Amino acid sequence: MAARSKTISLLALFIGILCLYFPVTTTAAAAESSAAVDLLYLTLVWPGAFCYSGQCCMPTTGEPAIDFLIEDLKTVDQTGQIVQDCNETCTFSTTVDPMPSLLPDLYSNWCNLTCPCNNGSVNWNNTWCTYGQCSQLNQTDFFMAVLNMTAKANLLEVFSANDIAPSSSTSYRLRDINTALMANLGLSTQIECVTVTDGDSERTLLSKINICVSADGQSFINCPFDIQSTCNREVFFNPFNINQLNTDCVAFGGFIKMATEKHLAM
Ligand SMILES: *[C@@H]1O[C@H](CO)[C@@H](O)[C@H](O)[C@H]1NC(C)=O
Ligand SMILES: *[C@@H]1O[C@H](CO)[C@@H](O)[C@H](O)[C@H]1NC(C)=O
Ligand SMILES: *[C@@H]1O[C@H](CO)[C@@H](O)[C@H](O)[C@H]1NC(C)=O
Ligand SMILES: *[C@@H]1O[C@H](CO)[C@@H](O)[C@H](O)[C@H]1NC(C)=O
Ligand SMILES: *[C@@H]1O[C@H](CO)[C@@H](O)[C@H](O)[C@H]1NC(C)=O
Ligand SMILES: *[C@@H]1O[C@H](CO)[C@@H](O)[C@H](O)[C@H]1NC(C)=O
Repeated sequence: MAARSKTISLLALFIGILCLYFPVTTTAAAAESSAAVDLLYLTLVWPGAFCYSGQCCMPTTGEPAIDFLIEDLKTVDQTGQIVQDCNETCTFSTTVDPMPSLLPDLYSNWCNLTCPCNNGSVNWNNTWCTYGQCSQLNQTDFFMAVLNMTAKANLLEVFSANDIAPSSSTSYRLRDINTALMANLGLSTQIECVTVTDGDSERTLLSKINICVSADGQSFINCPFDIQSTCNREVFFNPFNINQLNTDCVAFGGFIKMATEKHLAM
């Protein structure tokens, strides 16, 4: 009897250890509001992957940084469930101090390269109204946290210090990318890839890096949940430069609009 209960508790311990090492895989899924917000989830996109297909447009204001760009900052709980839409009324202002002083950084680091050309402000508004209002931060602190933590992550520097530089011909081992991230940002990052076709073959491009940030927006924390891996063992870090951005906003915008209208008509 005693031996048996010992076996059972050892088994429980073993399963417990397994769970610690292999946390439940969750894709951050949208969910209810009013759940507890345990952390912030910063998503940075690598425009070299985003613009790979040639469908990128130059923003109407400012110029994008040649760097990882901000996608958004989500409010999530311990399990990776997104907490959103916490307040039916939302006000967002780019004119109340100190927002005007943040605008240059927002234009270059939190721009929207989707066509038609735009100034990115729709995304700032949506991120604040959808997630920001669920956080413990006010609008000023929320935007400062986004900019501060992005600068602090310093991803391009982290990579270049580890000889991981954008290249269309050399791939990198996912392990080496993760090692570089871990050495600088601990267990706070999660990387995402997209698969693209390259002639007859496929390749995996580093597309996003998500970073777990404390609820007060001040520090990087270990991610308490996992996401499904979308990267192969070999990953390309495709170059990005300003020339990849379409500046013919009207023509490109018109094309996109026509396609949308056609789609709606069907
Ligand atoms: C909802 O937002 C409004 C302003 O946008 C604010 O006055 C109000 O306090 C917020 N309500 C809650 C429950 O946070
Ligand atoms: C962004 O562009 C829209 C119109 O396209 C304009 O109404 C808005 O004031 C601009 N906002 C900023 C912060 O540049
Ligand atoms: C980026 O801009 C496009 C075109 O204006 C818009 O449709 C899209 O929703 C924006 N993306 C985000 C994340 O705001
Ligand atoms: C800001 O976002 C909220 C919610 O996403 C939306 O209701 C509102 O119309 C947006 N305001 C602007 C100026 O885009
Ligand atoms: C936002 O919150 C910070 C402290 O949490 C405070 O110092 C600041 O005055 C607040 N800003 C606004 C516009 O309410
Ligand atoms: C962001 O960084 C600036 C300058 O380093 C600092 O003054 C500010 O307190 C920081 N704000 C937040 C919300 O972390």
